[in-house]
Amino acid sequence: MTILITGARGHVARSLVQQLRAAGAEVRAASRDPAASALPAVLCDLADPDSAGPALAGVTKVFLYAEPRGVDGFVERAVAAGVEHVVLLSALLGGGTEEEDAIARVQRKAEEEDAIARMHREAEAVVAGSGVAWTFVRPGAFATNTLSWAASVRAEGVVRDPFPDAHSAPVHEADIAAVAARALTEPGHEGAVYELTGPESVTRRRQAELIGEAIGRPVGFVVQDLAEHREELSRWTSPEVADSVIRHSQDAVGRPAATTDTVEKVTGEPARAYGRWARDHAADFTG
Ligand SMILES: NC(=O)c1ccc[n+]([C@@H]2O[C@H](COP(=O)([O-])OP(=O)(O)OC[C@H]3O[C@@H](n4cnc5c(N)ncnc54)[C@H](OP(=O)(O)O)[C@@H]3O)[C@@H](O)[C@H]2O)c1
Repeated sequence: MTILITGARGHVARSLVQQLRAAGAEVRAASRDPAASALPAVLCDLADPDSAGPALAGVTKVFLYAEPRGVDGFVERAVAAGVEHVVLLSALLGGGTEEEDAIARVQRKAEEEDAIARMHREAEAVVAGSGVAWTFVRPGAFATNTLSWAASVRAEGVVRDPFPDAHSAPVHEADIAAVAARALTEPGHEGAVYELTGPESVTRRRQAELIGEAIGRPVGFVVQDLAEHREELSRWTSPEVADSVIRHSQDAVGRPAATTDTVEKVTGEPARAYGRWARDHAADFTG
């Protein structure tokens, strides 16, 4: 039984491959750019589903990134190749439940206009509509998002961000991977939707302090101009996604983030806090 892990260069995929191999599972890592992957990997570009044939040979389970451009073609080929179960890396904002109250419906309407939510919900619909067994892993904000602060922490000892008082409950990539690993190797996760967060709500100012504690020197917080922030975001994503990221940040100012205990329920281990993540990534902020 071979498990295909798409997106081999991603933080979650890398941790997942490591955890599955350590557990003795037979794993094939796949990437858009196998040569650039730190792991031995085969080619699989989700935006070009025709590239997926060799990657899918002999595979029964797939860990899938929600790449919107080719996910339907990929899932169609996966089902034809005999894949029985897809574990989709979705997002906490994506998806929807049958039983919603009025407030949830209003929230959902706002989400429908949100680029990030839409992309993940569409990927979930494609997977669910294909007839394959599925598990949706829906994490909230990733702790790795703060790697965008690493260059200024290294160079000047500061975090630059417009929203010092915005809250999140950042989730460690190893916890997302641990939940996915259970779903890929144990029975009983078919049809499950796992909403994952870190164990506590922290402000960005507190995150900067925790990075300082992890690297053994204080890290300051410079309140960045919003236009400069938008410009930085636009270097790696579309204007719609940049707007969505900014809107989420603005909504989180002064509002502690809700947490879930799903990581612990699924894995038996409590979710790792942001301070632990900062220690695990101290080299990124000093190297
Ligand atoms: N950041 C957040 O706060 C957050 C919150 C909820 C959900 N998410 C989800 O998590 C994803 C990021 O996960 P990560 O941190 O592990 O990734 P990452 O380190 O940001 O790396 C990007 C990942 O996307 C994959 N990818 C992009 N286009 C692809 C394509 N055409 N075909 C195959 N793979 C493709 C890359 O795979 P290769 O380059 O190796 O092919 C790589 O694994 C987001 O895209 C989003 O769907 C993020």
